Amino acid sequence: MLDDIQKKYIKKESNYGAENYKPLPVVLSKAKGVWAWDVNNNKYLDMMSGYSAVSHGHAHPELLKVFHEQSAKLSLTSRAFHTDQLGPYLETLSKISGFEMALPMNSGAEAVETAIKSARRWAYRVKKIKPNTAEIIVAAGNFHGRTTTIISFSDEGNAKDDFGPLTPGFITVKYGCADSIENAINENTAAVLIEPIQGEAGIIVPPENYLPKVREICTKHNVLMILDEIQSGLGRTGKLFAFQHACTGCDCAVNECKWQPDGLILGKALGGGFIPVSCFLSTKEVLRNMSPGSHGSTFGGNPLASAIGKRSLELLYEDNLIENSRIMGDYFKQSLLNLNSKIIKEVRGKGLWLGVEIDPKYISGKDLSLMCLDHGILCKETHETTIRYAPPLIITEEELSWGIDKISTVLKKVEKVAA
Ligand SMILES: Cc1ncc(COP(=O)(O)O)c(C=O)c1O
Repeated sequence: MLDDIQKKYIKKESNYGAENYKPLPVVLSKAKGVWAWDVNNNKYLDMMSGYSAVSHGHAHPELLKVFHEQSAKLSLTSRAFHTDQLGPYLETLSKISGFEMALPMNSGAEAVETAIKSARRWAYRVKKIKPNTAEIIVAAGNFHGRTTTIISFSDEGNAKDDFGPLTPGFITVKYGCADSIENAINENTAAVLIEPIQGEAGIIVPPENYLPKVREICTKHNVLMILDEIQSGLGRTGKLFAFQHACTGCDCAVNECKWQPDGLILGKALGGGFIPVSCFLSTKEVLRNMSPGSHGSTFGGNPLASAIGKRSLELLYEDNLIENSRIMGDYFKQSLLNLNSKIIKEVRGKGLWLGVEIDPKYISGKDLSLMCLDHGILCKETHETTIRYAPPLIITEEELSWGIDKISTVLKKVEKVAA
């Protein structure tokens, strides 16, 4: 229940801010690790992780140190000058991801825009598509961000209504169906842009052979395969990148993976939960077409972002976050299934990225999120019937068990009312 203090903060937000979000009724004021506290010092387990941007946990001590030290030394220069941070960061990105080059940006949407522009440049300059005819194939149900071009290929009404005129050049096909991609390819196709698991759509996992087939089709038709791993990447699904799940029974390095896409988009957790850091990773063949002045951002690749990005990547391994995501994710999923709750219709997802499909006969996703909040769990529905659980990847079994207990209590209460 909201008290006067919380109401005061919420009122200020709605008086002075556009209402482009509908937050849950809680006013947070601090967080550490997997825990967050509201202004009245009530404690919550964060199972949202800033839509997967806080994978390292809140205020990770190593990242906090980098943040303090680098901002005291050199935080921003613009790309008008070189810095001693950008090169080492790009090198780390390349070595860890297996991609030859990166173009650094800030928000996820900016990195998606970068991927689109890079694909179009490559299509005109390397593939020799006729000027201004390039097409990019995308999937129904996608979520890639909020810019005018990106919403142009969203099929979410409210995301695009009355924001036109929209950007042309995108063809939408069914998600999870590789044949529909092949059927949509023509001489103007520059790229296929998809999420390896659709996050905002409700943690939709495609059939196992989807990405390998898409890879084969893209290679066959000389079309770039671009994956948006802004939410699914950097350990969230129990692998460094979600596309690696296509590799069954082998443990190949990411750059040896035969399903590696031609381009990969990262964001969210790359900023370690501190600042917006994103990038588009690809080959020299693609990114060499970007010339000075063709693209950029005042803040992209700034020294603070570079230092944080580099350390965030290293910590994925030093803190064993990817493996922990896999192990804790399996435990979480199995525990939810073991609850045998009639409220739960399905548990989807991989690693610490679960979409729990609830039966709307008993409760709405929004009301379940509110009940979870009352029981000390921060989570939020995506669409009406899916609750997304995505705790920081540092979560321990003890902390997770605490959360599962609370979720179980909530579900039992709903069942009791329904009985
Ligand atoms: C898959 C995917 N792409 C792009 C974005 C947009 O990122 P940002 O909100 O940082 O612009 C998101 C954000 O949720 C996302 O999940």
